[in-house]
Amino acid sequence: MSEYFHAKIEKNVGLMAVLIAVAISFGGLAEIVPLMYQAETIRPLPGVKPYPPLELAGRDVYVREGCYNCHSQMIRTLRFETERYGHYSLAGESVYDRPFQWGSKRTGPDLARVGGRYSDDWHRVHLMNPRDVVPESNMPAYAWLADAPLDAASVQRHVETLRRLGDPYSDDDVAGVRAALEGKTELDAVIAYLQALGKHAPTRDTAAATAGGGQ
Ligand code: HEC
Repeated sequence: MSEYFHAKIEKNVGLMAVLIAVAISFGGLAEIVPLMYQAETIRPLPGVKPYPPLELAGRDVYVREGCYNCHSQMIRTLRFETERYGHYSLAGESVYDRPFQWGSKRTGPDLARVGGRYSDDWHRVHLMNPRDVVPESNMPAYAWLADAPLDAASVQRHVETLRRLGDPYSDDDVAGVRAALEGKTELDAVIAYLQALGKHAPTRDTAAATAGGGQ
């Protein structure tokens, strides 16, 4: 009986394709779903907080301008990566990243630990025209960001939406968006965002504390 059943599946390409898809999706779900509940992947590392309004606005500009097309934000667990950039990335750093900016395309360097590496002024000059500080750079200039005002109403809606999704923003955070963006341009926002990247990078201690957090 079972032999007959099997022969029937093998001779019916459509049925076989559907059953293969079902088998593969179960395999995928068994790998993916546990990650959504494992503390190590959903608990923020110590110090990691939802983005303040200016950084959030800068992150939006980063995504809009497609910086991720040339920059990853994910340091792999390989010696030559950690020697160059610092501690490898942990999931707990990106808990409030929606969507995450890990990526894999590196026309330019990884930016996961770039915060604090340069001054705000360096970033300003670099974004206005990268060749002024790195003559061989092929990064595009983003000079118009210096004249682009921020839309406080839209950033406030963004904060409210993230709060609805569970990010722990307080009423004061929402009420303070307008004041935080007062007089700032999109360039200021991107720089604030870049300077915060890697601020809460794991150290040996935090990495040890989160390892095994899923049990
Ligand atoms: C076409 C590819 C490309 C795009 C798009 C791009 N970059 Fe770059 N970026 C590079 C390259 C190449 C370098 C290395 C040379 C240099 O420092 O200019 C670099 C360097 C950097 C650095 C210095 C990193 C370091 O560790 O020295 C920062 C910061 C940076 N980019 C930010 C940005 C931001 C923000 C955006 C979007 C607004 C952006 N990049 C878009 C290619 C790109």
